[in-house]
Amino acid sequence: MNRDEAVLRELNLYPLWVRRSQLAPLPSAAATPGHAEQNGMDAPAGKGRELPVGELGWPELKARVRGCTACKLRAGCTQTVFGVGDEKADWLFVGEGPGADEDVRGEPFVGQAGKLLDNMLAAIRLKRGKDVYIANIVKCRPPNNRTPDADEIAQCLPYLQRQIELIRPKLIVALGKTAATALLGRDAALSSLRGKMYDYRSTPMIITYHPAYLLRSPMDKAKAWQDLCLAVEAMNINSLPADTPG
Ligand code: URA
Repeated sequence: MNRDEAVLRELNLYPLWVRRSQLAPLPSAAATPGHAEQNGMDAPAGKGRELPVGELGWPELKARVRGCTACKLRAGCTQTVFGVGDEKADWLFVGEGPGADEDVRGEPFVGQAGKLLDNMLAAIRLKRGKDVYIANIVKCRPPNNRTPDADEIAQCLPYLQRQIELIRPKLIVALGKTAATALLGRDAALSSLRGKMYDYRSTPMIITYHPAYLLRSPMDKAKAWQDLCLAVEAMNINSLPADTPG
């Protein structure tokens, strides 16, 4: 068995699954996330001279996140988990929030779900840190890994929005329902959201299952594989030179 086959076997995808050949159309109605109007201002009262998050460069943004106490999550976590990878990546993967391992290490997706994410990346010939950036909707671990509350997401989302502006990825892959609904600005079952292309503030986006969910529900790895194939197709189309016909 060659390396690619071994990777697919690890994902429970070998030898059953074939690449999708059709790219689903871009739905226009889903294009505008409800959070799109957030202004990214994070200056609390009494700190009026702080630059808005939307004007920060990488070092200032990292420092702002490190010092953030805007929601109740910071008091219960070890450290903030900013994000990791190539700051000019074409690919941006967005999860929900740090878990126990990430809280200790200060890096997203380093536990069991992270191992599966690395395998998913390898299945489409990607590698953490190489043209790939990985971030989360919230930067602090929610207690007992609960889903982040709406107010926590609202406080933290401007940081991710600024990361996206600085990275300028060609494609966002939203991992799981929390990432999907935060970026889309509407709530829906993940099964109804996956398998399509979206537009997040002019960046193409796809939605797929969260690796932690896939660890619990391996039967859905096949659908995740379809989603990754859709992502590759979208990336390939998006990477064509502007004057390339077809
Ligand atoms: N789950 C996430 O959503 N993010 C991580 O960083 C780790 C697990």
